[in-house]
Amino acid sequence: MREKLIIIGASGHGKVIADIAMRMNIWKIIAFLDDNESIKSIMGLDVIGSSEDVSKHLDSCDIIVGIGNNSIREKIQLRLETLGASIPVLVHPKTVIGEQVKIGSGTVIMAGAVVNCCTTIGRGCIINTGTTIDHDNMIEDFVHLSPGVHLAGTVKVGKGSWLGVGSLVSNNLNITSDCKVGAGAVVVKDLTEPGTYVGVPVRRV
Ligand SMILES: CC(C)(COP(=O)(O)OP(=O)(O)OC[C@H]1O[C@@H](n2cnc3c(N)ncnc32)[C@H](O)[C@@H]1OP(=O)(O)O)[C@@H](O)C(=O)NCCC(=O)NCCS
Repeated sequence: MREKLIIIGASGHGKVIADIAMRMNIWKIIAFLDDNESIKSIMGLDVIGSSEDVSKHLDSCDIIVGIGNNSIREKIQLRLETLGASIPVLVHPKTVIGEQVKIGSGTVIMAGAVVNCCTTIGRGCIINTGTTIDHDNMIEDFVHLSPGVHLAGTVKVGKGSWLGVGSLVSNNLNITSDCKVGAGAVVVKDLTEPGTYVGVPVRRV
């Protein structure tokens, strides 16, 4: 763990990450990189350059990608990994994390989330506000579970999938990679094809 944290991306998701980082109280300095040169400061934190400047900070800073879009976040994190960056896990202090939970680098877990025992969460995931993930889940890399998602026990969510706000997944189900599940949707069967699914129960659109 280094004394300084750089967040790549100073929009909504980046700001929530900054808020979590401040509450974790382990970095002396928190700053952003953002490609919008007109932004100089956010939440009292400096924007110290663009994403192209990241290599200047590799040796001295922890670096996390604060971009909500799964494929963009993946692309940037993979580049950081290639460069040998130190990529932390951020967990808001007001979460409940069970026994034998594994969390990959670059993953962010937001306020009010509950991750129950024996669940594995991959790299670069977003476990958003108030989401619950029950026991024995497998969340693959670069997944986003939006605010208020609830996954029952033994659910698998494939790489890069995005579950919309308030969606529910019943127990023992697999959601394949690159699915989008709409806001408020209820998944009661495996989703075996990548695509967009909405409704109660979900249908593919
Ligand atoms: C599912 C979703 C990704 C689809 O977006 P899209 O590809 O732009 O699709 P469209 O808005 O064109 O909608 C396609 C159809 O699905 C319906 N639909 C879209 N989202 C729906 C939802 N959540 N529940 C039910 N129906 C939905 C639309 O009414 C439309 O139906 P129609 O063809 O009969 O008119 C989006 O609607 C959604 O729910 N996003 C989640 C947002 C979210 O959770 N954000 C949190 C960020 S932290």
